[in-house]
Amino acid sequence: MMPPNLTNLYLLIMLLWIQVLPCAGNAPVHGIRQTQSEPVGTIVWNPCNEPDDLPGTDCGYIIVPKDYLNASAGTAKIALGRLKAESDRLGSILFNPGGPGATAKSVITKKGDRLQLRVGKRYDIIGFDPRGIGETIPAVRCFDDSFTYKDFQRNTILERSYEFASNQTREDIRKLLIHQESEVDALLRTQYARCAKKMADELRYMGTSTVVRDIDFISKTLEGEDALINFYGGSYGSVIGQYLVNMFPDRIGRVLIDAISDATLWSGTPPFRWYRQKLIYSEAVYNTFITECYQAGPHACALARDTDNCPADIDSRLEGFHDSLYYNPLAVPDAIEPGVLTVGRSRLYLTVALESPSSWPETAQLFNEAMTGNATNLLNTIHERSVPPDLARIAVTCNDVKPFPPPSTAELVDEYLYDYFNVTRFIFGILTTEPDAGCQYWPVTPPERFQGPWNHVLRNPILILTSAADPLTPAGKQVHEMLGSSSRLLIRSGPGHGSFSVPSLCVANFTTSFFERGILPPEGTVCPLEGPLFPEVAKVRDSRVDARSGHGLSS
Ligand SMILES: *[C@@H]1O[C@H](CO)[C@@H](O)[C@H](O)[C@H]1NC(C)=O
Ligand SMILES: *[C@@H]1O[C@H](CO)[C@@H](O)[C@H](O)[C@H]1NC(C)=O
Ligand SMILES: *[C@@H]1O[C@H](CO)[C@@H](O)[C@H](O)[C@H]1NC(C)=O
Ligand SMILES: *[C@@H]1O[C@H](CO)[C@@H](O)[C@H](O)[C@H]1NC(C)=O
Ligand SMILES: *[C@@H]1O[C@H](CO)[C@@H](O)[C@H](O)[C@H]1NC(C)=O
Repeated sequence: MMPPNLTNLYLLIMLLWIQVLPCAGNAPVHGIRQTQSEPVGTIVWNPCNEPDDLPGTDCGYIIVPKDYLNASAGTAKIALGRLKAESDRLGSILFNPGGPGATAKSVITKKGDRLQLRVGKRYDIIGFDPRGIGETIPAVRCFDDSFTYKDFQRNTILERSYEFASNQTREDIRKLLIHQESEVDALLRTQYARCAKKMADELRYMGTSTVVRDIDFISKTLEGEDALINFYGGSYGSVIGQYLVNMFPDRIGRVLIDAISDATLWSGTPPFRWYRQKLIYSEAVYNTFITECYQAGPHACALARDTDNCPADIDSRLEGFHDSLYYNPLAVPDAIEPGVLTVGRSRLYLTVALESPSSWPETAQLFNEAMTGNATNLLNTIHERSVPPDLARIAVTCNDVKPFPPPSTAELVDEYLYDYFNVTRFIFGILTTEPDAGCQYWPVTPPERFQGPWNHVLRNPILILTSAADPLTPAGKQVHEMLGSSSRLLIRSGPGHGSFSVPSLCVANFTTSFFERGILPPEGTVCPLEGPLFPEVAKVRDSRVDARSGHGLSS
């Protein structure tokens, strides 16, 4: 996800206010007659004009039915960004980078050239801000503004994450967690009651089924009724992709999904029960992190020591550090926002870092500094982590998931403890960085909630990408098995969230051949890692912005 740009947020809030005011009643405002609202199907493009927009990009919007099943519900305005094909144009590819909650318009107008390295230059690449998100109207605004929302979260468990030490007894941990979970419960109820009050029925239109109808609508408007749909989606974008191909199997042109989240789980299982399946590779990825660090040695990995006898030595130091943080949180007076390094914050950063192996040399350096007493850079980095401006993510999750019986606090904690002891220690970090809890309190029902089947025969086979061990979205093989010959799976060796969490020319070659010539990689193709995860001279890249997002393009 992209860090929100505060100036843009201000502008966005202003725009929303201006937009909403005349609609509140039909009375003329200050003597100016309300302009007729634009009809469905209107599409407007202008040259993008922010300094960091790529030259030649277009910014605009399209007017779509707010509810495809109810014409009297009015319209929605979907923000669009476009990077044009350079020659021999083949059509448009619609793009979604994940979240849910990530904007896509500005990703394309500012970084779309990176996506061109994967899909070639023969397509217009279209980024659209999905329902509720970014510059699309209506946007999810449960709090008055992003500052109010940040203040609401600050220093609560939603931001600090859960706190306990791994060397406490199971019973002590359980008691601490039940106490913390009861506060989380109240925080979630507060959030969703705010949503009900501020947004009411507007919240119903943010679900993935509606977003997929937008994709169909945008594609028809841009390319004509009969043109097939081309789509590129990563992480949550892979969920959109699975909805898309199963809702419109006969309209599928070239569709690629990367970092695969299982839509069956997503739509049919309460989020608190996802993690037994979602986090199956988290420990393996962590083991790769410490093993590669050990093998690279102290000159390439700052957490390694010449005196280490095995990777477990690095692990014990990290675990010991986290336990000590529980008992003695670190004061960090020199951070940009002075604060405290707590066990929850530190563990959640490690959890996020596992997703992005390209950032591992820097991650090792940040932890090493903190473990030797100076957590300034680590806390600054944690604070830079993009905090979503509002609750757009949960509006998608909760509209999509089938209703379920409300779990008790003890039931939630016992499920998480099962995951903690039997699946991965990173469960509590994920609960904070991927906030999908509390849908039992969600106040609305969407007009449509697609529930599969997920194994349609498709007009054209789709390309599924995955790393060999994705700590967050490991379902590439399952989705490939479900779609059978309507899909092809391409695996990139090694760990990471999505195949491009480590740069791969091999994968990029295959994705370009797929989009430009419709060529699928041979069944069973595995692309190798093309370099060490801890290079000899550890280049400290500015990978922090990319940490959540696989080079800024998929999360
Ligand atoms: C259609 O939308 C209108 C306007 O929001 C609403 O009053 C009506 O109840 C909706 N109809 C259905 C069937 O949802
Ligand atoms: C738990 O870890 C802390 C910090 O390393 C240590 O001070 C404490 O003695 C440990 N407690 C037990 C019961 O091992
Ligand atoms: C901690 O690290 C920061 C950033 O490198 C530096 O500015 C600061 O002086 C260090 N603090 C101490 C006490 O060494
Ligand atoms: C771990 O799994 C076993 C076997 O399914 C189960 O009996 C045990 O309760 C689980 N551990 C926790 C802490 O839930
Ligand atoms: C990618 O394709 C280019 C040009 O077709 C080729 O030269 C290169 O060897 C390929 N690289 C990999 C890693 O497959």
